[in-house]
Amino acid sequence: MSYDRVRHRRLRGSAAIRALVRETRISAEQLIYPLFVTTGTNVKHEIPSMPGVYHYSLDLLEAEVAELRQLGIRSVLLFGVPDAKDEVASSAYDDNGIVQQAIRKLKQLDPELLIVADTCVCQYTSHGHCGIVEHNKHTNRAEIANDPSLELHVKTAVSQAKAGADIIAPSNMMDGFVAAIRSGLDESGLSHVPIMSYSVKYASAFYGPFRDAAHSAPQFGDRKTYQMDPANVREGIREAESDVIEGADFLMVKPALAYLDVIRALREQFELPLVAYNTSAEYSMTKAAAANGWIDEKAIVLETLTGMKRAGADIIITYHAKDAARWLKEV
Ligand code: PBG
Ligand code: ZN
Repeated sequence: MSYDRVRHRRLRGSAAIRALVRETRISAEQLIYPLFVTTGTNVKHEIPSMPGVYHYSLDLLEAEVAELRQLGIRSVLLFGVPDAKDEVASSAYDDNGIVQQAIRKLKQLDPELLIVADTCVCQYTSHGHCGIVEHNKHTNRAEIANDPSLELHVKTAVSQAKAGADIIAPSNMMDGFVAAIRSGLDESGLSHVPIMSYSVKYASAFYGPFRDAAHSAPQFGDRKTYQMDPANVREGIREAESDVIEGADFLMVKPALAYLDVIRALREQFELPLVAYNTSAEYSMTKAAAANGWIDEKAIVLETLTGMKRAGADIIITYHAKDAARWLKEV
């Protein structure tokens, strides 16, 4: 048979046949929209480096929740911007902390909304690190102490779950955080609450605008002793493997765009639902180019999200969620 009888274009001839053979689809139900909540009233403050993304005070959440519902977005990832910070992140595990209050408020507004709580302490520590800073007398350097930090994460997770969070999403990258949080939840009668682990989280420049948004930039040093080296993929498999053993219910790769190979690698090795985090700088770069008229925002965003799904993600956390849901209704 000669090769010229093969005609790939037969399956591309109309919108209907392209839809028929499409291998990857994005659905609003599998997008998670990040939501920043803050103290005070009547606050709807746009984050300068993230156009279209806001800090909300609790009294203004109602309209936001209604909009998400109308768009078919069923899950949010909650971040708190507290008004007080200290060395040990007390406001992160205060049962009346900003996230705990927001969870209760959201549950009142819409009991069906799935609330994923980001569990970390960098927004709540005065030094901006994701744990406890200790002086190591052997190296004579300040370091983020692993096991003492776990205690803060466990307290935070339990407090969030008690307030009604449906899923706990720990983003701290200490060793053993899934096991520690799992035990903490189980011992508090919260064994039904799943853990969405930020399993493979890189020390990345793609979080820059988020740190402005959440006021969570480290005040000294960087996060390279706990977040991963962007050059490594096999190490990412080891991170995911230990999370599976420790009882994670979801695995995540973050950021997404520069790490599609990592998403693919996890998809091939593990059977848990896989989450891609389309981070703040990925969002900001797209918005900036679109604002300049340099790109077609809708086409770029849908193509990007499709690429993440094609790489193997089941679920995408994205600041584009509301726009994407709107565009998906159009096509
Ligand atoms: C907190 C946290 C960060 C992000 C999610 N949770 C920042 C960081 O680790 O520095 C990044 C989100 C984004 O860039 O969109 N640990
Ligand atoms: Zn953190």
